Amino acid sequence: MNKTGLLMTAVALVASGVWAQDDNQLVINGEIEIITDAPAPEYISGLDTIYSGWRFRQPAMQQLEMDDFENPASLAIDDAVEQWSMVEGSEGKSCASCHEDVEDSMAGVRAVYPKWNEGAGEVRTLANQINTCRTENMGAEAWKYDGTQMTGAEALIGMQSRGMPVNVAVDGPAHETWKKGEEMYYTRYGQLELSCASCHEENYDNYIRADHLSQGQINGFPAFRLKQNRLIQTHNRFKGCIRDTRAETFSPGSPEFVALELYVASRGNGLSVEAPSVRP
Ligand code: HEC
Ligand code: HEC
Repeated sequence: MNKTGLLMTAVALVASGVWAQDDNQLVINGEIEIITDAPAPEYISGLDTIYSGWRFRQPAMQQLEMDDFENPASLAIDDAVEQWSMVEGSEGKSCASCHEDVEDSMAGVRAVYPKWNEGAGEVRTLANQINTCRTENMGAEAWKYDGTQMTGAEALIGMQSRGMPVNVAVDGPAHETWKKGEEMYYTRYGQLELSCASCHEENYDNYIRADHLSQGQINGFPAFRLKQNRLIQTHNRFKGCIRDTRAETFSPGSPEFVALELYVASRGNGLSVEAPSVRP
């Protein structure tokens, strides 16, 4: 490398170091401002401030999320855009037949999910809602809950709410489910007898082996995990974390994980939707 090249590299390193420690501002494509810290909602007694997982990542990784051209999730997004207008099922419809432009129809949707569905009398995750549309509105087969197509669709829909604060309802008819999720969050699982709170509330900002522990927020989900080289779904992440405590885990889409998702989402009320995020 010539002298100019070396100098440029040095400057880039210094500059990215500054972003991590001082400003630490996540602005996507130079225009979408993401709230990565906020006062904890009053029903979370163990935290004063909530932080997006982005704040715990190294500058080089943080940068991958600042530009959609660098975000490795962009290929999955391209596929999801195609899928949006693909006709499937007995009714001869695509998502676009009813919802038209994803940009307009899905803006704000991610921010309020999981959400109570009055007709069904249950809390629905975004994935549950998408599968209901597939089976009931399209006459198509349900997608695998944490499969590639579902995760891509969630990322595409999530993107339309980027920058908007997460705002899931914890009271009203959703309260019972939320309570169940809260109980799960503090339950100690497995041989290691660890709860979600043991790591993500009591020990965030500490290191566990090589991992810088975050608060385990889901405002950035689905997340592109570099380690797995693909987008992963919220329940998939929950499953991995529970497995790490050497406990029996629940399945993606199970009522337990739906409740846990509602509760974990509510711990991030006030942070921006950041999907699709990039994580180690
Ligand atoms: C035949 C029309 C139709 C098709 C096709 C359809 N949907 Fe829907 N979708 C609806 C209706 C109606 C609702 C409102 C349902 C409700 O509130 O119970 C809805 C609701 C939704 C919502 C929740 C919106 C909100 O504000 O809560 C999402 C997300 C969604 N659809 C995604 C999809 C996706 C993705 C596809 C394609 C795989 C799809 N839909 C296909 C009719 C359709
Ligand atoms: C033994 C410690 C440990 C326990 C217990 C644990 N996790 Fe994690 N979790 C991790 C580590 C390590 C990571 C990766 C680094 C990070 O983002 O915190 C992680 C990441 C996550 C993430 C991704 C955050 C992001 O921004 O990408 C979520 C969400 C999460 N955990 C939720 C949970 C939930 C819910 C539970 C309880 C069912 C749980 N975790 C239990 C260690 C744990």
